[in-house]
Amino acid sequence: VLVHGAGLLVDTVFAEVVRACAGHGGRVDRSAAGPSSAAAPEHGAAPPRPEGEPAAGPVDLVLALRGPHPLPPAVPPGAAAAPAGDDGPLGDEGFLSTRVDGVTVVLADAPAGLLYGLFHLVRLGEAAFTGDRPARAHRPALRRRMLDHWDNVAVHPDMGQVERGYAGGSIFWHDGGPNGDRDRLRAYGRLLAATGVNAISVNNVNVHATEARLLTDRLDDVADLADLLRPYGIRVHLSVTFAAPVVLGGLPTADPLDDRVRDWWDETTRRVYARIPDFGGYLVKADSEGQPGPATYGRDHADGANLLAGALARHGGVVHWRAFVYDHRRDWRDRSIDRARAAYDHFAPLDGRFADNVVLQVKYGPVDFQPREPVSPVIAAMPATRLAVELQVTQEYTGQQWHACYLAPLWSEVLDFRPWGPPERTVADVLAGVPGPEPRRDGDLVAVANVGDDRFWCGHPLAQANLYAFGRLAWDPYLDPAAVLDEWIDLTFPAPTVGDPALVRETLHAVLDDSWRTYERYTAPLGVGFMVDPDGHYGPGVDGYEYSRWGTYHYADRDGVGVDRTRATGTGFTGQYPPPWSQVYESPERCPDELLLFFHHVPYGHVLHSGVTVIQHIYDTHFAGVEQVGAMRDRWGRLAGVVDQGVHDRVAERLDEQLRCAIEWRDQINTYFFRKSGVPDARGRRIY
Ligand code: GCU
Repeated sequence: VLVHGAGLLVDTVFAEVVRACAGHGGRVDRSAAGPSSAAAPEHGAAPPRPEGEPAAGPVDLVLALRGPHPLPPAVPPGAAAAPAGDDGPLGDEGFLSTRVDGVTVVLADAPAGLLYGLFHLVRLGEAAFTGDRPARAHRPALRRRMLDHWDNVAVHPDMGQVERGYAGGSIFWHDGGPNGDRDRLRAYGRLLAATGVNAISVNNVNVHATEARLLTDRLDDVADLADLLRPYGIRVHLSVTFAAPVVLGGLPTADPLDDRVRDWWDETTRRVYARIPDFGGYLVKADSEGQPGPATYGRDHADGANLLAGALARHGGVVHWRAFVYDHRRDWRDRSIDRARAAYDHFAPLDGRFADNVVLQVKYGPVDFQPREPVSPVIAAMPATRLAVELQVTQEYTGQQWHACYLAPLWSEVLDFRPWGPPERTVADVLAGVPGPEPRRDGDLVAVANVGDDRFWCGHPLAQANLYAFGRLAWDPYLDPAAVLDEWIDLTFPAPTVGDPALVRETLHAVLDDSWRTYERYTAPLGVGFMVDPDGHYGPGVDGYEYSRWGTYHYADRDGVGVDRTRATGTGFTGQYPPPWSQVYESPERCPDELLLFFHHVPYGHVLHSGVTVIQHIYDTHFAGVEQVGAMRDRWGRLAGVVDQGVHDRVAERLDEQLRCAIEWRDQINTYFFRKSGVPDARGRRIY
């Protein structure tokens, strides 16, 4: 192997190849165009050689930075030619891969491109070294591919260390201070880079007292994380409290239009960049679920976001401002309020007022990461605003890493959704900056992270597939979830040396492909959402939220179920969508079955497009969901002795629990609706 080029991330590429050679044989040389920051040669490595000097012996793989200098002679003639019809710049992270005359070549214009090119080869495996491959350019569709950790430095009395975290303690923080396991943190950076993630926020959006100080006197802890993750191309961001000028700066106000407040943010941000020059920016949850914000001072979200954006702009930073804003102290008796409307009502009127380095971060659905929601209407409503769509890799509402639930099919449905109807742009197009009627304005894909200090990273070994798929879809939102799953399977499970080589792949597809829809079947029906236990969001609690202040109701009674969000007779939420969706969702006849109860209150006898009544659909899907979990468990059992024993045991244990929990869901939901409606199951199955 020859690695050619200079820079921190080229050093990383070199170290990766050294490590691979140490494990599998082979030899790596390094040549440098310009000054190299390479350290002393490591095991199996030759020292950097001056530009132009040929590597000793035949070369199978060249990873080279293009630049003003000539490429090393090991790059065969023809390998440097641009692919047909695509000679555009590769950008900061893109790469070109090809195989010519028996040499595999990866070329990039910037160091990060070489790193992503290397991981691309790892994904290809042996295929990267057979036959010739025409040159192909690869560039990330989305510039920022970000994970938000909801980690607390100190253990929080209600939320524990990781809010909605199901993989043990925090990977970043331990006992109120930094996690000392630096190898683990480096490995995490490596793992994220291999998926394509390039930004991370290291603390919870609910910023408590200790965590607020990461911005000031505990900044060294953040700088340390940035140092560990930088070699893998990952920029560190921080969740900050909007009240920071008061709680940290001792000012009497955090009013965004007050000069003292502006000066405080400017100076604080200057110090952050003095310590972390490539710091990513701030993530803010303001005026939401009790977090402070500009409303206290009679200012709006644009005033608040632009204040921070101003402080960050001169350093190249961004502010992610969350649109998850709603009244969390409402009265369930008041039918005029609708939580689903809140983000649009707060933010759509502000379109065009946000600074260019503000990214408005919108949850994919209008309520809260439910297994089934319509796509948020905010996306279509704010063409003049840079957007991030926020997904939840951590399985808060999808089984908490006890249930196998592969989420990529859900995310792909969101990314493929056309907010203005076919044939207009998809959500993926919007984020990728495909120009529409408005000027090009690209956005980010962000997700709440699912990693902790668990031995298997994610608690459930199969939940790693979600982490992997998130990174891959953020790099290329047009990928097929099943193909992404194949990649993950091949990278994660070595092919069995005995028996059927296809067994592992087939079993994992059988367990995971349909697992999100299976989860949907045995939980809340037809998009109604939130029939979950209100304490931990795990397991059923059909009426758990029904008379609470949180605004998530299903309104089931003896006659029917669902939320009337129509303009004609309901909350008017359907009017937040442009046509055709405003009409499709308004009409119970045209509304897709899976969202019927999100938009309409219907009688139990209402006949779905599928031909069955709502009540019979509830019974059928809940029986089917449990059967499917049973089948998943049986399939996994066949991998005993084929995959690593520890992995097998952990997954088997979790599938047992998933089955127990799915039965509980089935029985509580079916019994609830049987008692409300009095309608028996047409197939005479046992309902308690
Ligand atoms: C959900 C979740 C909270 C979280 C909030 C958010 O409501 O349950 O723990 O703080 O989302 O996204 O801010």
